[in-house]
Formats: sequence, structure tokens, C-alpha cells
Amino acid sequence: MKFFVDTADIKEINELAEMGIVDGVTTNPSLIYKSGRDFKEVIKEISEIVDGPISAEVTSLDKETMINQGKSLAEISKNIVVKVPLTYDGLIACNALSKLSIKVNVTLCFSSSQAILAAKMGASYISPFIGRLDDISNEGLLLIDEIITIYNNYPKSFNTEVLVASIRSPLQVSQVARMGAHVATIPPKIIKQMIKHPLTDTGLKSFMEDWKKTGQTF
Ligand code: E4P
Repeated sequence: MKFFVDTADIKEINELAEMGIVDGVTTNPSLIYKSGRDFKEVIKEISEIVDGPISAEVTSLDKETMINQGKSLAEISKNIVVKVPLTYDGLIACNALSKLSIKVNVTLCFSSSQAILAAKMGASYISPFIGRLDDISNEGLLLIDEIITIYNNYPKSFNTEVLVASIRSPLQVSQVARMGAHVATIPPKIIKQMIKHPLTDTGLKSFMEDWKKTGQTF
């Protein structure tokens, strides 16, 4: 499973890229707002740090403007993936941009029928938001299972990768990997939480104490 980082914070991206764990980056208007940076400038900077796909989202609601914004975002770098919302206009923009060989990530997906439409419209990625479904007492993981099953039924015609979004815990990362999701986009904080285990900490502490007792150095 590929690891995308869900942030527009350059410091966090640099840190995780140095670790070697970043296969791509996803951003959205809220993350751009949080970064306090100019949208295109920050996307350009991210694309210079990470070779993999960088999702940059359109900010209009009508298809013509979405297509124009998508073309303009795609000019920033060869690894830009244009993010469009899962609306009627967004799907038309997805189809038009995909036909121009611009990769599209269809975002704000909350049902498997929406995911079918995105695949039919040539999306490179579909982004189901599992955390936001859990927030309203719907089972986010069930949606991932449904989409993977449906896409696997049509391996020749559906080439869309399932990019699990709105991840809120390390457990969800393991769960979607077990289901065979292609990509998980994960907030930096959760990636760091994934490293931690109390038994690792206590085990390492006692190894270090015993090593000290040997009186050796090397
Ligand atoms: C995905 O591309 C979105 O940026 C993100 O995963 C949304 O997560 P949230 O529901 O935690 O805002």
C-alpha cells in the first residue's frame, strides 16, 4: 500500500520525505488555509520535494472553471494530480481532464455508487473519507470494502486506485491495508503514532540498561 501524506505543511513533508516514507501528498483547501501559504507556491514547493503524485484541489463549483483550474494546476509540475469534488460538474471535469492525460483524484466520496461513477469517468484515484463517515456513525471501513470489491469485479475497465482519506488512527491504516486499498493518505501525526508501541519502549529501555551494565563500548 502506498503512503501519501495528508498535509500542506512543508516542514512535516520534508521530515517524512527524509525518512523515506512518502509516496505522494494530498492537500485540500482547508489544509492550504492551515499552511498560511499561497496555494500555487506551496504546491510547487511540495512537488520539488516529493516525486510522487501531489493532489491539488480545484476551488470552483462549475465544470468549465474546474477544467481551467485543473489545466493550470497541472502546469505546475508533471506530478500534479487534480482533485475535483464528487459532484455532477466535478465528474464532467474529471472526464475532460483525464482525456487530456491529466490525472484526477475525485474527492469527498461517501458511497460506493459515487465511486462507480468516478471510475466510469476515468478518475486515477477515488478518495473515500472514512473518518468523516465514522463521525456520523456510519462505518467508513465498510465503504472501503465495498469499493474494492466492486473495482475488483471489473479489472479491465476500472483502473481507479482506492485512496483512503480522512484517516484518524493507526488502526485504520492496518485495517485498510488488510482490505487491499491501493493508497492511504495519512496525517503526519498518525504516521508518527504508528511507530510507537509501549512494549518497544520498555524493551529498549531494559536492553539499554543491561548494555550499560556490561561496561562495554563499540
Ligand atoms: C483527503 O484528501 C483529505 O484531505 C483528508 O483526508 C480529509 O481528512 P479530514 O476528514 O480529517 O479532514
